[in-house]
Amino acid sequence: MALLVPSSSLLISLLLVLLFIDPSVASPIANATGYALVARICEQTYNKYYCTDALKSDPRTKTADAKALLEVSIKLASLNATATTLKIQSLIKDAKHPGLKDHLQVCANVYKGIVDDLTRANASSKSGQYDDARRSAIRATHGPESCEVAFKEPPAQKTPLSSYNFYVELLSDIVVNIASIIKLLNCTLILEIKVKDSSVEGSDGYLTSVVTLNWSNLPFEVTVAYCFDLSLAV
Ligand SMILES: *[C@@H]1O[C@H](CO)[C@@H](O)[C@H](O)[C@H]1NC(C)=O
Ligand SMILES: *[C@@H]1O[C@H](CO)[C@@H](O)[C@H](O)[C@H]1NC(C)=O
Ligand SMILES: *[C@@H]1O[C@H](CO)[C@@H](O)[C@H](O)[C@H]1NC(C)=O
Ligand SMILES: *[C@@H]1O[C@H](CO)[C@@H](O)[C@H](O)[C@H]1NC(C)=O
Ligand SMILES: *[C@@H]1O[C@H](CO)[C@@H](O)[C@H](O)[C@H]1NC(C)=O
Repeated sequence: MALLVPSSSLLISLLLVLLFIDPSVASPIANATGYALVARICEQTYNKYYCTDALKSDPRTKTADAKALLEVSIKLASLNATATTLKIQSLIKDAKHPGLKDHLQVCANVYKGIVDDLTRANASSKSGQYDDARRSAIRATHGPESCEVAFKEPPAQKTPLSSYNFYVELLSDIVVNIASIIKLLNCTLILEIKVKDSSVEGSDGYLTSVVTLNWSNLPFEVTVAYCFDLSLAV
């Protein structure tokens, strides 16, 4: 698609769009730190109250930017997954039923993977590879469900780990959310704008233009955006 020079009618329409977005509603997430950032992040997780409590439990959170908060979240998820691993080991030791023992063994392996994924996410985040950190954290979020379904395999047993799995999934999901935000902060926002313009030749009478905005400097709030890696798009 051709990149057109914006016509005056396009500029007028774009200004109208900007006017209708009230910049005072909320400051852009790019600027948020500390508890304001926590509120914005936890809004997107499936238990915002627990997410908020968990992140605030670390004293660093109060002044953290997104990158510092990512480290906090990885630590929380990792501690929880490690503690769950110990719980699984003790359940294996006490298991009388051989079927239950087998299912617990599956979970022990799953949790080894979760702890590894979170360790990798930690290393990636330390070296600034936020997309890799995000991918590792996404893998970690899938572990708890694998552990849950293991107990449904014959001989089916009642899962003794559902509350443990719940927290590990939730905490890993917080890591995913924060890593996604960091990725988005470094991203350019590309808007495709179609403006009705009868002076334009063409069947639909619309002028299409692509406007590129730097996400970090937006004066207004965007709640849904697709993030493109421009270095790949060129
Ligand atoms: C974001 O922070 C920068 C630097 O502190 C400031 O200049 C800018 O006005 C802030 N933007 C908003 C929308 O709060
Ligand atoms: C993350 O890495 C740092 C070292 O860079 C280490 O001190 C910390 O324990 C690691 N945390 C986790 C959760 O692996
Ligand atoms: C994981 O975190 C939750 C919520 O803080 C806590 O209730 C639970 O005990 C933790 N799990 C382990 C195994 O420590
Ligand atoms: C932001 O993008 C630049 C250029 O593509 C890259 O070098 C840098 O590592 C990225 N930073 C983050 C936080 O992803
Ligand atoms: C976007 O703005 C930030 C902060 O002003 C700057 O560091 C970054 O290089 C800009 N990114 C692009 C793609 O222009």
